[in-house]
Amino acid sequence: MGQASDERVTSKPVTSLPTPPETEDDASDTALNDSCSIPLPPPTKGATQVLDIDKNTPDAHVPRDPRLIRLTGVHPFNVEAPLSALYDEGFLTSPELFYVRNHGAVPHVTDEEIPDWEFSVEGLVENPFTLTLKQLLLDFQKITCPVTLVCAGNRRKEQNQVRKSKGFSWGAAGTSTGLFTGVLMAELMRVAKPKRKAKYVCMEGADKLPNGYYGTSVKLSWVMDPERGIMLAHKMNGEILPPDHGKPLRALIPGQIGGRSVKWLKRLIITEGPSDNWYHLYDNRVLPMSVSPDEAANNPKWWKDERYAIYDLNVNSVIAYPAHDELLSLVNAPQMYRLKGYAYSGGGRRITRAEISIDKGNTWRLADVEYPEDRYRQYEQTLFGGEVDLAWRDTSFCWCFWSLDVAVEELKGAKDILVRAMDESMNAQPRDMYWSVLGMMNNPWFRVTITEEGDSLRFEHPTQPALQPGGWMEKVKKAGGNLTNGFWGEKLDGDDSGTPAEAAAPEIKLTRDDVDTIISVDELRKHDNAQSAWFVLNGHVFDGTTFMDAHPGGAQSIISAAGMDATDEFMAIHSETAKKMMPKYHIGSLDEKSKTILEQGEAQSDGPAEKRSTFLQSRAWTTAALVEKKQISWDTRVFMFQLEHDEQTLGLPVGQHLMVRLRDPVTREPIIRSYTPISEMNQSGRLEMLVKIYFETPKAKGGRMTMALDSLPLGHGVEFKGPIGKFEYLGRGRCSINGVVRTVKSFVMVCAGSGVTPIFQVFRAVMQDPEDGTRCTVFDGNRMVEDILCRDDLEQIATANPGRCNLIFTLSQACEGWTGLKGRVTGELIQKHCTPDPETLVLVCGPQALEKSIHADLISQGYKDSDLLFF
Ligand code: MTE
Repeated sequence: MGQASDERVTSKPVTSLPTPPETEDDASDTALNDSCSIPLPPPTKGATQVLDIDKNTPDAHVPRDPRLIRLTGVHPFNVEAPLSALYDEGFLTSPELFYVRNHGAVPHVTDEEIPDWEFSVEGLVENPFTLTLKQLLLDFQKITCPVTLVCAGNRRKEQNQVRKSKGFSWGAAGTSTGLFTGVLMAELMRVAKPKRKAKYVCMEGADKLPNGYYGTSVKLSWVMDPERGIMLAHKMNGEILPPDHGKPLRALIPGQIGGRSVKWLKRLIITEGPSDNWYHLYDNRVLPMSVSPDEAANNPKWWKDERYAIYDLNVNSVIAYPAHDELLSLVNAPQMYRLKGYAYSGGGRRITRAEISIDKGNTWRLADVEYPEDRYRQYEQTLFGGEVDLAWRDTSFCWCFWSLDVAVEELKGAKDILVRAMDESMNAQPRDMYWSVLGMMNNPWFRVTITEEGDSLRFEHPTQPALQPGGWMEKVKKAGGNLTNGFWGEKLDGDDSGTPAEAAAPEIKLTRDDVDTIISVDELRKHDNAQSAWFVLNGHVFDGTTFMDAHPGGAQSIISAAGMDATDEFMAIHSETAKKMMPKYHIGSLDEKSKTILEQGEAQSDGPAEKRSTFLQSRAWTTAALVEKKQISWDTRVFMFQLEHDEQTLGLPVGQHLMVRLRDPVTREPIIRSYTPISEMNQSGRLEMLVKIYFETPKAKGGRMTMALDSLPLGHGVEFKGPIGKFEYLGRGRCSINGVVRTVKSFVMVCAGSGVTPIFQVFRAVMQDPEDGTRCTVFDGNRMVEDILCRDDLEQIATANPGRCNLIFTLSQACEGWTGLKGRVTGELIQKHCTPDPETLVLVCGPQALEKSIHADLISQGYKDSDLLFF
């Protein structure tokens, strides 16, 4: 494929016009006949099928190409093409292989709705206005030009090999080129007339995400600069924008990272300062190398500093051929091999050289560079309804292709091939990687290794995208090489530092050095039960069997993880103290093949959703859509979720909890917390959760999960798993604690704040059954009266059962007129109302400080540990 030949990467013949003319302008397109010298889109069949894997996602309306490599599981859709397939398409990428970066679900816009799509131009302008897409196309001049889009995460997998960044693993195909048709944004600005202080144009899309609508900004002066070609596009390669690429309207910011080109565009807001959109602040930045993931998470100042925001792309180049794992037979080999690849730079800066080294960077040879974009500069006619008017522009916004013929004999004697590019400002790719928390803008020299295997040469790229194994970086890392030693992890003479850079990350060690047993996935899966529960964290195997009884989360949580990879949940919900206990349970490591098998598949649900009678599954995540959000107070909400079908019940025993998982839309890191729903356990079709939102304040960071939940749009799916917990109320005084059943005559229930939810479940279950003679004394402590959650429900239950329960609220900051108790829940208060009794069980749920003080007080009053249960 990559062998010497005269094949060209640029001109693909076009046999027909992609779409019939929609306007008079289109009809006047120059016939795209054989004499046409511009590269035209590759023949495209266009994806027409909704793939099976998308059918149960919010993108069930989007047809896609199965060749695309999914980088973040099934949903949201973040994909790149195999590098060779992308390169073989030539200068323009067909829509079905164009990379996609979606933070969430694709807004559903039908063809009929396109002309009426509205967007606004507002903010610091004399004439704010709203326009339909139809008006935009009728009233403004349209242009067509080629633009290369590049995701700032392109080549991030290499960064992740050095040290895991907060971003998913793009290979080297996070880039694509389209021929876009639309209107210059500057034309709209001229109508809107920005006011004196206006400096930025903020853009907002229609995709509502956990942290609001996707949005970002660019400078107004850039928008007004005709050289920069900033535009709104409605067509790509002559066709309506595909849903994944912004149908029906997107911004295009040539020469800048793809993240600035907002899709499904709804608003242009002219402002004095840069965008304060969450995605502008927390995405698309290169923080200083010295900022660790922890520091970045704990110190918001890094994210608010515009100096670290990425706009222009940096200079980059990649080797496409030889492809990864390509074998070049030395038997009857051609004399020459043609090395080929792509290069691009940012801000309209042109690539002025691409250089190849086959002696580790000691000497460099100049490659040929071909700029297909230039051919449009000579084409001054309309194309796809837009004028091609690039003759006067000095900027270059597309990728170019480099190639160099090298004697096969020379490759035989070489260990690797390196490429580096330079742009017209003499910006050159560095030899060494600049690692940063988000792993963006990775652009060191691209290196392909050469290994002689029998009669052939095998070529290896640095990495393969997503979880795909392969690449020389993985090998170097496994062999203990230091990828950041400036020599691609190879040992230099006299260098005995074998420590991978990752070891520098301050992480708690979960493993023991003296454990070296290798375990297969088949062996692991035999230990998936209460008698023997093995589970995997970061590729290492742990035996949790002996810890089941002592596990604060109950034996069931360990059993649920048995035989599986529990890394995400474990890391998300365990404290440092818990992590420090892990070496004691470390029994071995998975072999490489087993790791891949486990990584590739999360446990699948048992059977199709429509057939399952209960929603929760202990070993697989199931998704319910948020259908309603009720505001209870300024910081408290009830979130209502629709289960998979109306007859389905939740499947959560009284007193147990479930896990909720949301993924950070930028980094895809999971956020997992446990909650107790407030809906009745036997209610079918619905699940209700009462949640107090911990907002960010100048003093506190705010709760990641609660803030993300609060900003979820209706219709968004949330994942659940469970049940978990060691306690279960079986009814009529019978309780199960870690599977051991005992009967109690009364409960003392102590809670504070949102700790009321598990208490409420048990209290309601006891009181709902008229035959249940168990007595309950509930102590519920809060700061102010507004903070008392479920107050009405609790009081109604108490009023209906006067002889069986006592409900005591106490407030630490009571307002005037509060006639109830004042102060916190203390041992003294409990002593006033209850006496220790072997037939009483105390249930406690609240902040750690409360649980600690109640524990100490009650033990001193004569309660036994076996009679105290902390949720
Ligand atoms: N616009 C919206 N509304 N929502 C998004 O998630 N992703 C951005 C940008 N515009 C995004 C968006 C990012 S990070 C990139 S790299 C490009 O879209 C990708 O464009 P593409 O999917 O058309 O290739």
